[in-house]
Amino acid sequence: MPDLYDLGARPPLGEVPRQMHAYVVRQHRFGQPRDAWQREVIPTPAIGPDEVLIYVMASGINYNNVWAALGAPVDVIGERQKLGEPEDFHAGGSDCSGIVWAIGKDVTHVKVGDEVVVHSGWWRPDDPWVLSGRDPMLAESTRIWGYQTNYGSYCQFARAQAHQCQPKPRRLTWEAAGCFLLCASTAYRMLMGWAPNIIEPGDVVLVWGAAGGLGSMALEITRALGGRAVAVVSDEAKRPFCLEHGAVGVINRNDFKHWGRMPDTNDTGAYGDWVKGARAFGKAIWDGVGEKVSPRIVFEHPGEATLPTSGFVCATGGLIVICAGTSGYNVTMDLRYHWMRQKRFQGSHLSNDAQAAAVTRLVAEGKMDPCLSRTYGFDDLPGCHQLMLENQHPYGNMAVLVNAPAPGLGAS
Ligand SMILES: NC(=O)c1ccc[n+]([C@@H]2O[C@H](COP(=O)([O-])OP(=O)(O)OC[C@H]3O[C@@H](n4cnc5c(N)ncnc54)[C@H](OP(=O)(O)O)[C@@H]3O)[C@@H](O)[C@H]2O)c1
Repeated sequence: MPDLYDLGARPPLGEVPRQMHAYVVRQHRFGQPRDAWQREVIPTPAIGPDEVLIYVMASGINYNNVWAALGAPVDVIGERQKLGEPEDFHAGGSDCSGIVWAIGKDVTHVKVGDEVVVHSGWWRPDDPWVLSGRDPMLAESTRIWGYQTNYGSYCQFARAQAHQCQPKPRRLTWEAAGCFLLCASTAYRMLMGWAPNIIEPGDVVLVWGAAGGLGSMALEITRALGGRAVAVVSDEAKRPFCLEHGAVGVINRNDFKHWGRMPDTNDTGAYGDWVKGARAFGKAIWDGVGEKVSPRIVFEHPGEATLPTSGFVCATGGLIVICAGTSGYNVTMDLRYHWMRQKRFQGSHLSNDAQAAAVTRLVAEGKMDPCLSRTYGFDDLPGCHQLMLENQHPYGNMAVLVNAPAPGLGAS
């Protein structure tokens, strides 16, 4: 058997070549994603007893690997080396569709030849918390696959834990199946994982960055479960996309100016202007819904720029659920509204297996669109991350082809 196969060329099922193609970041080129991500030939990884090797057909592009390219806020290579891993590169990628090509000796959940999608929740199987049967996403050992772990979906063969695999939705192409699960599973946990604040029919959900990866999934999930999503975007061109994917109303954040950290509450002039901005934004939500109903769930990820407003507009007893701080982490909030109106502020991160399975089922059953924005070639991967960093990427979720043929070029 050759040591290396071209992309798209399949070794006999179950046979693993010694080397593989991959997109990789190294510490000396941390910086702009267009330069940091480079194609290399690297050794194909060995797998442990509970792991699988996936012949990757298509990969999604996610913001975490923009952060990996920048080397900030953490150097993922240095962090792994501190834990004893020898590799001096990051072969990332946290979303894919593909074919199970090899399985570890303890794997029973999937078999060689299965077509799967892979979610990005990773944890040590011997973690006492995991063994206790509690939510593994709260375990000490939990990591983001393909960001905090190596050999992710930007590899010809990705290494994953067997439990991460879900059956590939049969109705989808490889690229549509490979693009959505990281954002969809994260959004599902945010919207359905924090009872009693889970979507109930008629609930209003405010969705920031609604044409982005996470936001588009939040719109689709909210619609599928009977909620009413109000979308926030920064560009009128995104309005039709949001309405098509389930929003009942759309707000352009450029119509408001009160973003960023809250002013000092003792500065009555500046604070008064801030409240005026936040109230006007709240009214825009009611206009979007068509009645005076405030969001029972606020779907947050911009963080510093938007959190004060999220806290202000959230309904009494409502939930502000957050999974990122794209605009900054140093947040402010007027706590008086928070306690008097008994709101919740909840962090959320990726998903567990059950949540990933639930959202994959919604997609498989056609109740949710994976919002594939555009399919790119493997060598467009650095440029896709650059587009994302510059907030210039197409709406929804991007995919790159790894071993899958270009659409229209033969059977997949
Ligand atoms: N913890 C987790 O489990 C998890 C999972 C997935 C993603 N994330 C993180 O979540 C963030 C978003 O990911 P994504 O895939 O949705 O990225 P994305 O596709 O780039 O979408 C983010 C959207 O946020 C909006 N935005 C950017 N800056 C903003 C600001 N200052 N104020 C308000 N809105 C702003 C933009 O929309 P407009 O310009 O149209 O408003 C943008 O489209 C990233 O930081 C990512 O790393 C975390």
